Amino acid sequence: MKVYNDINAWLSMRKELSTHLSLGVVMTMGALHEGHLSLMRQSKQENDRTLVTIFVNPTQFDNKNDLQKYPKTWESDCDLLQQVEIDYLLAPRVSHIYPAHDYFYMNENHFSQQLCGLSRPNHFQGVLTIVLKLLNLAQAQRAYFGEKDYQQAKLIQKMTQCFFLPTQIILHPTIRDPDGLALSSRNTRLSETGREKATFFARLLKTEKSVLNMKHQLELEGIQVDYLEEIGQHRFGAVWIEDIRLIDNCAKP
Ligand code: PAF
Repeated sequence: MKVYNDINAWLSMRKELSTHLSLGVVMTMGALHEGHLSLMRQSKQENDRTLVTIFVNPTQFDNKNDLQKYPKTWESDCDLLQQVEIDYLLAPRVSHIYPAHDYFYMNENHFSQQLCGLSRPNHFQGVLTIVLKLLNLAQAQRAYFGEKDYQQAKLIQKMTQCFFLPTQIILHPTIRDPDGLALSSRNTRLSETGREKATFFARLLKTEKSVLNMKHQLELEGIQVDYLEEIGQHRFGAVWIEDIRLIDNCAKP
């Protein structure tokens, strides 16, 4: 696996990559788990080469504490990437991605203002900005995102359509542990009791109970609900457990 911290070194390599070879990209903030690996395996199946990016994007964290506490596991991430036989890893420096006096951001003013956007102001602005930058750097044929972050994935898909970006956005179903909890880098920060509560939330979301009833049950378990909503045929939830914000979604049962 070739590792690039320098954007220009990556771009020179990208220029030299034969136009006959297709490239797939999987964007991550590190702390890799099976959810990320399944995206990478799909990319490897569908493309000649796969690029993974690791960049803990500061502009999508509304809370400095959350950014500081975000798990950083560089060594084990690199081991996993080697095991999956990833071709290229791009891990750019923050100052290269956001140079001084860079005042450009990508905004969406509708869906990004709902659900997670309500309690995390500017979060999707940060996500769409970094994804646009990384899509332009990667110049990939395909980019892979998990449906666990459904709102994010749909916004990215819409952005590429609206701006006629050439990369095809491919969504991958949520990967769950056998107990039903959606894999997330944040799960590692949960205590045993916290994890039980998180599993309760994941299971409850898929039941036929009404939104009101679910909220009530979560509160009885001492779980703070950020939102629980149904939009169209989809159900979305976000909760706080031990100061950790967890999200999940599913088709409306
Ligand atoms: O889903 C994530 O890990 C991040 O939001 C992404 C897409 C890598 C952008 O920083």
